[in-house]
Amino acid sequence: MMNVVTAAAEAPKFADLTHHLAPEVLVRKTNPLKDIIRISWENPHLVSLANGDPHHSLYPIRRVEYEVASAADEDPVSAWRSLGASAPTQLLTSSRDADSPRLHQASLAYGHGVGLPDALRTVTALNNAYHTAPHHVATMTLGNADAITKVFRMLGSAGDYFLADEFTFGPMPIAAEAHGVKWVPVRIDSGGIIPKELERILANWDSRRGKRPHVLYAVPCGQNPTGSTLSLERRKRIYEISQKYDLIIVEDDPYYFLQYDPPSTEAHSTQTQKPFPVSFLSLDVDGRVIRIDSFSKIMAPGLRLGWITSQPAFQQHLVRFIDLSSQQPSGFPQALVSLLLDGWGLAGFDRWVRSLRLDYQRRRDFLLGLFQREVAPGGLASVDVPEAGMFLWVRVHLEKHPRFTRKAEEVVEGGRTNARELMQELFEACIRGGLLIVPATVFVLPTETGYEEEGSVHIDDRSNFLRATFAGSEETMAAGMPILGKVLKEFFADPSTARIDATSTVA
Ligand SMILES: Cc1ncc(COP(=O)(O)O)c(C=O)c1O
Repeated sequence: MMNVVTAAAEAPKFADLTHHLAPEVLVRKTNPLKDIIRISWENPHLVSLANGDPHHSLYPIRRVEYEVASAADEDPVSAWRSLGASAPTQLLTSSRDADSPRLHQASLAYGHGVGLPDALRTVTALNNAYHTAPHHVATMTLGNADAITKVFRMLGSAGDYFLADEFTFGPMPIAAEAHGVKWVPVRIDSGGIIPKELERILANWDSRRGKRPHVLYAVPCGQNPTGSTLSLERRKRIYEISQKYDLIIVEDDPYYFLQYDPPSTEAHSTQTQKPFPVSFLSLDVDGRVIRIDSFSKIMAPGLRLGWITSQPAFQQHLVRFIDLSSQQPSGFPQALVSLLLDGWGLAGFDRWVRSLRLDYQRRRDFLLGLFQREVAPGGLASVDVPEAGMFLWVRVHLEKHPRFTRKAEEVVEGGRTNARELMQELFEACIRGGLLIVPATVFVLPTETGYEEEGSVHIDDRSNFLRATFAGSEETMAAGMPILGKVLKEFFADPSTARIDATSTVA
């Protein structure tokens, strides 16, 4: 049970980064009961009258059988979707009567906060296959939202500053704000975080504000909401900056496996060529990357299962917190992914995720095709092609709107234009037209002002985007894009005011 933690403690040294820990971490005691029970896990020869676990013979679950898709086919996701009830499947069984009831029992018992040994073996095998991080260690989580909030809590306390993309996956920053963390936005472009903007903030940090930011929250692949993916060059540069300014990188990467080629003219490509990117984790020689993975996007979000990969010192504090809170992710999904990887093998898993990305790539191309047909001809919106993830970031050409206007010079708060108000109107018009689509304002990092470069365009004036997903069904996409095209046309045909040209202020 304890192999992962113990072996990790013997791994070659990472930098000592414990000064990044929040004060609450340093005063948090261990769960004393877990400390005692851990002795029996480490010394199975001991007669134990210690544990309050119900006896396993009394668990009223004899057998759990999962019938899962077979991953034997070259394009298993396609077979799974198209063949319906006759799609090939594989039976995975966890049973108290099987030759080896160990997994069944373990998945139903109290466990260690680090996770079920079989699940850890599984995610460690995935880490070894897709990343180069032999000395980092894995900790099971209830998915990325759970993992990130725990990691933020471990690193951030009142008055700390964290960095993130200026448009980002909003719930995570909000979670950290509740314990006093303040956010500093980093300027992005279609390639994600701009390294020199990151460095500009750190190099010019005014210590009168407080301690320099020490955590960077990054979504490197198919960023939510912008769909951008960081190039290897940017990743390396960001890592160097993190070393120079002593940052911890929280690498939230739920879309890692969903990588796409550029749209193809071939109607039926059967493989995607794009290699899986080099993660921040693979670049991490110091132990300053805390990588967060999830089964949500490659299996099912309701499993609530994922894993953190970190240097052992961080794992120790995470597990201490888990032992006092969630204790461990539910045993069923942990057992399921272990059985699944044993059943499919790594090669089967790889076939599955490559086939899955092909499926999402087709959906992306389908949505792009609809956009080109239904929206682009109006000249009122445009998109970049996302090379990963689930989202299309639609730029609305607000400068063409008849009521687009600059605010009076003496207005000091907020943007210099009425872009924010127009986007809210557009959002409401979409709903009236029958379409729900997310406006960029929802993703603006909650922050104080004063980090922008002098003369830069205010974030409100650059919030002229909508996020559309291609993860849904073709029917939904086919219904949605014509509505967007129509609503945009009507919205921009607004005759109520004369056009005021202020083109240069909208990005
Ligand atoms: C960037 C990002 N992080 C985290 C999550 C949450 O994922 P999980 O289901 O693993 O909690 C999402 C979900 O959409 C996401 O887009």
